[in-house]
Amino acid sequence: MKKVSVIGSGNVGATVALFLAERELADIVLVDIVEGVPQGKGLDMVEAGPICRFDSKVEGTNDYSRIRGSDIIVITAGLPRKKGESRLILQQKNSEIVGQVSRDIAKYAPDSIVIVVTNPVDIMTYHAWKVTGFPNKRVIGQAGVLDSARFAAFIAMELDVSVEDISAMVLGGHGDEMVPLPRYTTVSGIPITELLPAETIKNIAQRTRDGGAEIVGLLKTGSAFYAPGSAVAQMVEAILKDKKRIIPCSVYLNGEYSLMDVYIGVPAKLGSSGVEGIIELKLTQPELTALHDSAKVYKEGIAKL
Ligand code: APR
Repeated sequence: MKKVSVIGSGNVGATVALFLAERELADIVLVDIVEGVPQGKGLDMVEAGPICRFDSKVEGTNDYSRIRGSDIIVITAGLPRKKGESRLILQQKNSEIVGQVSRDIAKYAPDSIVIVVTNPVDIMTYHAWKVTGFPNKRVIGQAGVLDSARFAAFIAMELDVSVEDISAMVLGGHGDEMVPLPRYTTVSGIPITELLPAETIKNIAQRTRDGGAEIVGLLKTGSAFYAPGSAVAQMVEAILKDKKRIIPCSVYLNGEYSLMDVYIGVPAKLGSSGVEGIIELKLTQPELTALHDSAKVYKEGIAKL
């Protein structure tokens, strides 16, 4: 069995762990600073095994040394936003947490691949990359899978078609400036621009940008975790099975899309070494401008770090 450690056993962390265990993708170590919570959730998941028929081991701990030997580490430790807040407001507090977690990852699991979920994710991924000192292909942010899934879910609702036939693409940072790409979003290969009026697509794209806030508004305390958890599981699966899937995620750009020294969401090839390639789409000028505007926000965040 491969080994995946999930740092932070709150809503997102526990959901990631359960999805991974159910698919028997790995044995899992759940880490948290709160005593008893990772142990309790881990044991609860193990007890679901006989019913759901999985043999993955799930261990909960407060001891970071237990992450030794992990193939992948998922960072979910940190605060979620509250109603009315932007993800950027979390930067100060979460950068302290992600900094500490990254130092422990470098110490105990120097060969692992790191997937960052903690928000603001594009900035936190950059931070984790710097602090771990890992090659950038081994530090990846989760956002694009989730944003694209939200886009796909809304399209399926609008067209009354199966989500299975939808392939959606959202680029940019995981925030208000994300860039849904209707031209590259298809239903069984048919671009949605041929299936929906421009006004409807515009509304769906905006609902996608506000997708996280919509959930926060409903939950009132805490933010989304089922869709983020399944997004991480998809990335973990692509890496552990060396699938070479093309998945939008937050990756380090070094000249691609004319952007330098920033983590932002673009389509990347995920395989056993992490990011094995970046796909450079031929964007129209307005699309490229939107991507650059999005990157600007995260560059400012990085400068503040
Ligand atoms: N080490 C390990 N765990 C930590 C640490 C730390 N240094 N600091 C905080 N935690 C734990 C908390 O104890 C808590 O159990 O992180 C967990 C966060 O869980 P939730 O509060 O339920 O937050 P969640 O909804 O899981 O979101 C986590 O993911 O999507 C993002 O914006 C979201 O930044 C947030 C993160």
